[in-house]
Amino acid sequence: MKPHTYTSVFHDWFTFSNYYSIIARRLAELRRPVRIAEIGVLEGAGTSYLCVELMNLGVEFTLFAHDTFALGKYEHFTFENQLEKFSKQMRQAGCYERVIPIKGDSSLKASIHDDNSLDFVFVDGNHSFMGLVKDVGAYWNKLKDGGIMGAHDYTPAHPAVWAFGNELARNPELNVEFYGEPDNVWSVTKNPITTP
Ligand SMILES: C[S@@+](CC[C@H](N)C(=O)[O-])C[C@H]1O[C@@H](n2cnc3c(N)ncnc32)[C@H](O)[C@@H]1O
Repeated sequence: MKPHTYTSVFHDWFTFSNYYSIIARRLAELRRPVRIAEIGVLEGAGTSYLCVELMNLGVEFTLFAHDTFALGKYEHFTFENQLEKFSKQMRQAGCYERVIPIKGDSSLKASIHDDNSLDFVFVDGNHSFMGLVKDVGAYWNKLKDGGIMGAHDYTPAHPAVWAFGNELARNPELNVEFYGEPDNVWSVTKNPITTP
C-alpha cells in the first residue's frame, strides 16, 4: 500500500478525504481506465490523496489538474511557486506520470476535453456563484453518462456554493447527494446507468 503524503503541502482546505475515498471505490468498480478532471488543485493535497487511493485500488487513471497556479495572497495565506510545489507533490506521491497540470482559467480550458470523456469532475476552483455556473456548465457535457461531478465547500460559510448546491437540489431528477462535515460536498451522478 502506498502511503498518503498530502500533509507535506498546504492541506487546510483539503477536508474531503472521506468523499474522495468513496469516489475512488466507485471508480474502481468500473474495472477500466478512468479520466478525471480536478478544478482548483492548489498545491495538490486533494490530488495526491485521490491518486494514492486509486493506485492502492489498482485503478488506471489520467487526472487533469486545472488551476491558474497563480493564487498569490488569499486571506492571510501566501502561495508562491504553486505549480512547482504541485509537481513536487505529485512526484512524492508517485503519481507524476498520471497527472497532467493544465494552467489557466478552468472554464476556458474545458475545451481540451472531448464531450462524454470524463468519469469524475471535482470543482474546487472559483467559489463565486458565476464561477460555479461557468465551471459546471463547461464540464457537464464533458462527463460521461454515469460520471460523477462534485464540488467542495457546500456549507453556509461559503454562501455562493451553498446557494448553488441548494439550487441543484430543487431538481429532483438530479438526485443530488450531500456529504456533511468535514467533507462539505454536493455530488451528482449524470444519467445514472442502471444494470438490469
Ligand atoms: C480552495 S483552493 C483548492 C484546494 C485544493 N482542492 C486542495 O485539495 O488543496 C482553490 C484553487 O482554485 C484555483 N482557482 C480559482 N479560480 C480559478 C479559475 N477560474 N480557474 C482555475 N483555477 C482557479 C486557485 O488558484 C486555488 O488553487
